[in-house]
Amino acid sequence: MNIIFLGPPGAGKGTQAKRLERQYGIAQISTGDMLRAEVAAGSEIGRKAKSIMDSGALVPDAVIIAMLGERVRQPDCAKGFILDGFPRTTAQADALDALMAQLGLKIDAVLALQVDEAALTERIAGRFTCAKCGAGYHDSFKPPCVTGVCDVCGSHDFIRRADDKRETVAARLRAYREQTAPILPYYAAQGRLHTIDGMADIAHVSEAIEQVLAKS
Ligand code: AP5
Repeated sequence: MNIIFLGPPGAGKGTQAKRLERQYGIAQISTGDMLRAEVAAGSEIGRKAKSIMDSGALVPDAVIIAMLGERVRQPDCAKGFILDGFPRTTAQADALDALMAQLGLKIDAVLALQVDEAALTERIAGRFTCAKCGAGYHDSFKPPCVTGVCDVCGSHDFIRRADDKRETVAARLRAYREQTAPILPYYAAQGRLHTIDGMADIAHVSEAIEQVLAKS
């Protein structure tokens, strides 16, 4: 099964994609995580991407499309994948269609999470992840069961993202409105777009996604 998650920053794409990865044994492909790994490794891509990401703008299409093309060919994608953060522009959506045709694959469902902008800012401001295994948490909505201890791996180290500052979030939301939201009608016209109420709590959003996937 191959799935696309669309939605503004903080909508819950990563939270839900990680759950589906565990449930279906398919790969979560987060282009944001891939870029952050390049930044951490100090690679050429990472050095160029860092200032763009810190400003809240989108990294150039050519860089992302090349990265994605390599990633979906990895063995862990053989059973399927969840695209979390890609495509984000019409050029990326076109490139994805071409890539799917080349690989003889299809996208089974496009899931668009809808969340009010005020809620997005609150979610992003409270977000943190385990530095060791990447499990995601929120100060109010999803704290670890034991304060300061990761539920998944027991680590005590947590990190907050550099681009989760309030002023950067405004720029990220603008990039979403101007460059990503325009691709929603493209998938709607193909009958593949499923809109999910992302304002519900995490468990209810998961249920709504399950109902869509059961029919896809
Ligand atoms: P990326 O890493 O993709 O970030 P994003 O799209 O801004 O999305 P987020 O990771 O912020 O949010 P999310 O929807 O995954 O929410 P989450 O599940 O964490 O991109 C970062 C940057 O990289 C971009 O700005 C760009 O520069 C670059 N980039 C990446 N891909 C690119 C591309 N294709 N092209 C060009 N540039 C690209 O949830 C947020 C918080 O809310 C968490 O704390 C969570 O616990 C909580 N939460 C989740 N669901 C709920 C709920 N239902 N109720 C309450 N709380 C919830």
